[in-house]
Amino acid sequence: MAVTLVIFGASGDLTSRKLIPALYQLSRKGRLPTGTQIVGFSRTKFSDDAWRKSLAETTAEFVGKEFDQAAWNRFAPLVHYQPGDIGEQEDFETLHARLHEVEGRSAGKPKDLTRVYYLATAAQFYEEAVERLGAAGLADEENGPRRVVIEKPFGEDLATARALNVAVHKVFKERQVYRIDHYLGKETVQNMMVLRFANTIFEPVWNRNYIDHVQITVAEEVLVGRRGAFYEETGVLRDIFQNHLLQLMMIAAMEAPVRMDADSVRDEKVKVLRAITPLSAALVAMDTVRGQYDGYRKEPGVAADSQTATFAAMKLAVDNWRWQGVPFYLRSGKGMSCRTTQIVIQFRSPPTMLFANGKPGDLCEANRLVIQIQPGEGIQLHFQTKVPDQGMKLRLTDLEFDFHREFKGVMPEAYERLLLDAFQGDASLFARSDEVELAWGIIDPILVAWQKEGQPKLEIYEPGLWGPESSMTWMHGQGRNWFDTCPVIG
Ligand code: BG6
Repeated sequence: MAVTLVIFGASGDLTSRKLIPALYQLSRKGRLPTGTQIVGFSRTKFSDDAWRKSLAETTAEFVGKEFDQAAWNRFAPLVHYQPGDIGEQEDFETLHARLHEVEGRSAGKPKDLTRVYYLATAAQFYEEAVERLGAAGLADEENGPRRVVIEKPFGEDLATARALNVAVHKVFKERQVYRIDHYLGKETVQNMMVLRFANTIFEPVWNRNYIDHVQITVAEEVLVGRRGAFYEETGVLRDIFQNHLLQLMMIAAMEAPVRMDADSVRDEKVKVLRAITPLSAALVAMDTVRGQYDGYRKEPGVAADSQTATFAAMKLAVDNWRWQGVPFYLRSGKGMSCRTTQIVIQFRSPPTMLFANGKPGDLCEANRLVIQIQPGEGIQLHFQTKVPDQGMKLRLTDLEFDFHREFKGVMPEAYERLLLDAFQGDASLFARSDEVELAWGIIDPILVAWQKEGQPKLEIYEPGLWGPESSMTWMHGQGRNWFDTCPVIG
């Protein structure tokens, strides 16, 4: 079925850096549904041609070697621009008429087509955009499915997320709403479900009997740069934990869904969130670490006495049969030693150590499964082997699967998969209303306790390392270490 995609916030960064390059790639690979049209809406007064010209430049920059002028020339005519202001109802009426024109309605073309509205604006405009879409009749489904894709952040805490859900549900039914988290579009994240549920050898050991703990790290080398003012309001908990990190944790911890459909998958993910006990203020002081990189307060748009965390680590417990007693350590920071997103399943040590490895009482490192989501995408299983000709000396070695080595093509960008899913009406990789609210329910008490109790203290850390020193000592205090090899693959 033909699709019209309407992008609100068309002149913004997300559109030029991610959405248009992803749509261009889909078109180049012949994956866009026949009859796809793309309409950009924002206040800047572009003509169609001026917008296309500016997008050609940015797409060439972001796509790099894969930019092919002939493929762009085939794609560009699908792209249109309609200037307008989210604050003006009249502009939505004009948009409606323009959509009919772009869709060839006046020329008597078939009426049945899918429309997807993508909110890529600043979050403060989401509610108004949805309300005005409703008032202009743009959410009515008489002429085919109407869907809305909502970017993160979905709310800034539980109360605002709930209010936004209420506002959205006044216009769209839940099945029409696609709350996007681009981490779910990453190949290795989806591959984690395949690893767990299309193989039999991992699932029997994927539980408290064999796993000591799980570490999930989203480390970024970059600093906040030009995003200081945004980051001041957001901080690492809202920016990465409430969405990306909790999503990764849900996929690592969930039970197998009964089917691979949107609700079955999301039901299982939601159960994980329900099993996480939100931290009390006393536990926040003990089970979280927060830091700010040295120099953050001098970034443009940042207060000279800012208390915003650019690094956090936390320990969460999943209170169910599978995970009772297995801590999940989540960690993320800007200004870290290297860019990596990885999930480490740390298995228990063997019950007795038969091989002294040289010194009596020596323990060997236990098995570990490392799922690296970026920069290189792949999986490594760490296990002990005997060093030849050196008595019973042991050495940790690995089995490795590297996506790039196995599959020669370039890995697709997360937005390609997610846009296509939204076009086809598959919401499995999008968050449901209860899911975002439950996720905020876990993050809110930490935000509140940090602000009210001031514990743990905000620690300043040197950029280029692994966050504050206390993150290491906190782990050591629990008899564990962060797995800081980076990148482990690629
Ligand atoms: C975004 C955050 O959601 O994710 C950014 O707002 C962060 O602060 C980015 O840099 C990380 O995404 P990726 O895909 O580069 O890991």
